[in-house]
Amino acid sequence: MGLSVLLLFALFTGLLLLLVRGRPKGHRHLPPGPHPLPVLGNLAQMDRGGLLKSFLRLRKKYGDVFTVYLGRRPVVILCGMDAIREALVDQGEAFSGRGIVAMIDPIFQGYGVIFANGDRWKTLRRFSLVTMRDFGMGKRSVEERIQEEAQCLVKELKKSQGALLDPTFLLQCITANIICSIVFGERFDYKDEEFLRLLDMFYQTFSLVSSFFGQVFELFSDFLKYFPGTHRQVYKNLQEINAFIGRSVEKHRKTLDPSAPRDYIDTYLLRMDKETSNPNTEFHHQNLITTALSLFFAGTETTSTTLRYGFLLMLKYPHVTERVQKEIEQVIGSHRPPALDDRAKMPYTDAVIHEIQRFGDLLPIGVPHMVTKDTHFRGYIIPKNTEVFPILSSVLHDPHYFEEPDTFNPDHFLDANGALKKTEAFIPFSIGKRICLGEGIARNELFLFFTTILQNFSVASPVAPEDIDLTPRESGMGRVPPTYQISFVPR
Ligand code: HEM
Repeated sequence: MGLSVLLLFALFTGLLLLLVRGRPKGHRHLPPGPHPLPVLGNLAQMDRGGLLKSFLRLRKKYGDVFTVYLGRRPVVILCGMDAIREALVDQGEAFSGRGIVAMIDPIFQGYGVIFANGDRWKTLRRFSLVTMRDFGMGKRSVEERIQEEAQCLVKELKKSQGALLDPTFLLQCITANIICSIVFGERFDYKDEEFLRLLDMFYQTFSLVSSFFGQVFELFSDFLKYFPGTHRQVYKNLQEINAFIGRSVEKHRKTLDPSAPRDYIDTYLLRMDKETSNPNTEFHHQNLITTALSLFFAGTETTSTTLRYGFLLMLKYPHVTERVQKEIEQVIGSHRPPALDDRAKMPYTDAVIHEIQRFGDLLPIGVPHMVTKDTHFRGYIIPKNTEVFPILSSVLHDPHYFEEPDTFNPDHFLDANGALKKTEAFIPFSIGKRICLGEGIARNELFLFFTTILQNFSVASPVAPEDIDLTPRESGMGRVPPTYQISFVPR
């Protein structure tokens, strides 16, 4: 009895001391923010609606730049175009570090192009950009690959004869196949069991990371990781995908022809062989697996989710769909497949795709950054290795740039003459040195897949447009649109 009272007293005194002491010494010059509690951080200030809502509410009190404690992690939050540009572009090098997504960190552990830092990141990013460009420009351009994939999809959708279907898998298949053809040198059949299982795991993983638990996990991963929970499922999923990549690497190794690399993995293996005598090389097995996983995941889930939101919006706003189809008829007609050159002549369609991305707001709180050194920013000092979240949603929904930020309206991207209106606030791919590495591929896919489908099919739903609910199913690190049924009726 005496001992437990003593322990309780010690615990209470410890907590009190931590509370009184306030922020650790190095954190005193961080931007202002709500006072954190020991261990719990700013849990008391978090909104039940999740991280984005919490940050937007705190912005009202503390301004565009403030600090919140996700559990014990201090994170500097950047809202609005000016703050994000000043950090990610004007001080690009200092803000180019990558922070942590707690749920998937045990798999990546700082390896692979998305989660690497320092020289490792620079090497992998440069190599990935050049290699992906080479395999997108060689004998078969990315444009051709996307066009071919789009025709495979048209064939598949025709088989459905206008029956209702959930488009999730098919849209994942087409986006995954583009990245698979570049990374693994092959595309997969839409009925391939193993492929479908991998895609389901991507879908589950993106949903779980974006779920409410995923956000709570960001705050208390130190503690929650020891208990059962969906983080264990995420780990298992990504491990299984890594095993698939590992098997593919082995197959590549057996058939490798040094004079004719066929894809990203071949090119990486050749570089690995060249650097065997360099003990500090970044071209090793772990970086290969995690970079392939990064490209596969980032290249599949993002673009397919955007398309899925896009077709839901087309069901909700049939007058927009009609105008897109009219433009397709005028510029492309029905006898040839859409090509990238058509985009410049199709401002309305281009504006609709921009608006889908803006409204869809796929990664509302961005992907965590980290400062690479002690950084002076707007009169504050952000210590080296502090995490920074650029809240992309705050820019994509800024009424200064978009008249009705919460409404889907392609006019946001059209000028008075009906031409495409570009705005610096269109940043779904982020900005600065960490800007999405697949932006070009993603934009090409969105245009060609979207137009090819609407050239060949009308879209219909059993739910009346006014009853279609656009509320995301999950909204955390990512936004996941609600599931829905759609029929693609041949035109
Ligand atoms: C609509 C589709 C897409 C969206 C909205 C999107 C958005 C983003 C965003 C916001 C980031 C974080 C940037 C930052 O750290 O500030 C990112 C990073 C990244 N994306 Fe994408 N992305 C898309 C498609 C793709 C595709 C198709 C690929 C692969 C071909 C890809 C590969 C990557 C990679 C490798 C990174 C990490 C870059 C780095 O850390 O240096 N993304 N993306």
